[in-house]
Amino acid sequence: MKAGAVQPARGAELRCQGWRQEGILRMLENTVANGERPDELVIYGGIGKAARDWPSYHAIVAALRDLADDETLVVQSGRPVAVFRSFPDSPRVVLANANLVPRAATTQRFGELSAAGLTMHGQYTAGSWAYIGGQGIVQGSFETFGACAGSFGGTLSGRVVLTAGLGGMGSAQGPAIAMNQGVALVCEVDETKIANRLADGRVDEIAKDVPDAWRRCRKAADGRQPLVVAVAANAADVAEELVSRGMLPDVATDQTSAHDLLTGYVPAGYSLVEATRLREAHPDEYRRAAGTTVARHVRALLAMRNGGTTVFEYGNDLRGAGKLAGVAEAFDIPGFVASYVRPSFAVGRGPYRWVCLSGEESDRVAIDTTARTLFPEDDRLQQWLGHAERWTATEGLPARICWLGHGARALMAREINRKVREGELAAPVAITRDHLDSGSCSYPGRETENMPDGSDEIADWPYLNAMLNVAGGADLVAIHQNAGIIGGSCSAGMTLVCDGSELADERIDRCFASDPGIGVVRHATAGVPEAVAYLPHSGIHAIHNQASDQQSRSDKD
Ligand SMILES: NC(=O)c1ccc[n+]([C@@H]2O[C@H](COP(=O)([O-])OP(=O)(O)OC[C@H]3O[C@@H](n4cnc5c(N)ncnc54)[C@H](O)[C@@H]3O)[C@@H](O)[C@H]2O)c1
Repeated sequence: MKAGAVQPARGAELRCQGWRQEGILRMLENTVANGERPDELVIYGGIGKAARDWPSYHAIVAALRDLADDETLVVQSGRPVAVFRSFPDSPRVVLANANLVPRAATTQRFGELSAAGLTMHGQYTAGSWAYIGGQGIVQGSFETFGACAGSFGGTLSGRVVLTAGLGGMGSAQGPAIAMNQGVALVCEVDETKIANRLADGRVDEIAKDVPDAWRRCRKAADGRQPLVVAVAANAADVAEELVSRGMLPDVATDQTSAHDLLTGYVPAGYSLVEATRLREAHPDEYRRAAGTTVARHVRALLAMRNGGTTVFEYGNDLRGAGKLAGVAEAFDIPGFVASYVRPSFAVGRGPYRWVCLSGEESDRVAIDTTARTLFPEDDRLQQWLGHAERWTATEGLPARICWLGHGARALMAREINRKVREGELAAPVAITRDHLDSGSCSYPGRETENMPDGSDEIADWPYLNAMLNVAGGADLVAIHQNAGIIGGSCSAGMTLVCDGSELADERIDRCFASDPGIGVVRHATAGVPEAVAYLPHSGIHAIHNQASDQQSRSDKD
């Protein structure tokens, strides 16, 4: 199969026995079509895949085409293994990706099992067929940098933000910083990627070296002009040079694929070609060189932090890699969820995306308008929908992501389902989300870092989230582990197809109450103040065991 060969079907014609199966099939096709290396089924994040291999992909497609309305397809790490009888409102697909027993959940063992063809890395939305291209991360980055702007009076205007990486995820940072009125200085070792991002508008200017980049950034910041400047250089070299010249950015972060020191992070002192040769011929030497560079990178960021720069890790395990490479104080750098995202997650506000299965842009526009109309008081949502028109292009099926709260999610899905039922849209709509959400992820290196009660490593919550989505009748439910990344995570994904039916209304009510609802409960249980304050007004029937809460507090004292 060649790149570009997979494209999502469009229109109102069904290839499957129902829209729920057809919707999931189009989501799979859309995920592959939007992938970074579709010919290898690699979607994003270096090695995150949608299916184990091409025979598995074709077998999944065939199974979905045949799947009855009371059957459930089972997919084990990207390979379909069985179809079982279930109920009409059971999930049509359940997926498990990259789950390993605790003893084996290491990067090395995952690599061995993966190489033996027994598992695959599903990232979050790659393996659960919910990837919609760069938009998802642009919006998440808009939220993160918007929350970061909170510590600068609500705007990044006049501020320079240093970061690195122009890959599938990383290239969203520049636009997100600019949407918050800031100036981005982005380092990237791959000149082809820089050229591509200049062409697609995610980079405004290319600097010839670090002083040139700094001059351009400062000039724009002083003029209160948003700008994205890229420089072709190693992130560690740039960060060190800025520190040594006393050119400290206001904010610094990074989105190279530092979670994988063999395939994701390029060591300093090597051209891309040289690095590839080294990786292939001497992988251990490559890892050592990458580790040395990460250590320099993290030390330079710590030096910036000491100098007053706001530094945070942006979900790529840079600190974990730095610590392994010998930087004991790497975790003095805070993570972005604990710093910026948690207050939203605590009240069940998180990612929510609609994918128009018709392929019609007019469906997407109509649903965007619905969101604007339903939630006029949600300033951030209104701002985002304005920016989204300008900054995001349609990739594959027309889709929109935004963040909605507990309560708002069901309201929105109900309205979409009504529109489908009453023929206001050309075809059904799939609603899905990232695994990085309120109650669907345990990842002590990121989503659950520094929980107030110390429950960072408790992985019960994503399993409960997945089981609730099965109980509620979501159409696809996925449970993932990320043993292939430093620190490891467990997470859950879900997709629900609004086919216009009354059964879909019921499934919407159940799933969109419990999916973010268990997140509110998870955060309230941990003592996150926003969740504790919201829970009594949420309509969630929470069982708060005060005796056990008091006992665990006195045990801690
Ligand atoms: N924050 C989040 O919510 C979130 C979500 C998904 C992924 N991630 C993480 O973000 C990271 C980036 O994801 P991606 O999809 O953009 O990865 P990618 O592999 O597509 O891109 C990484 C980019 O970094 C560049 N690079 C590597 N080493 C470099 C160095 N030393 N200096 C400068 N450039 C270098 C590469 O050339 C590449 O273009 C991953 O670790 C991923 O797991 C974070």
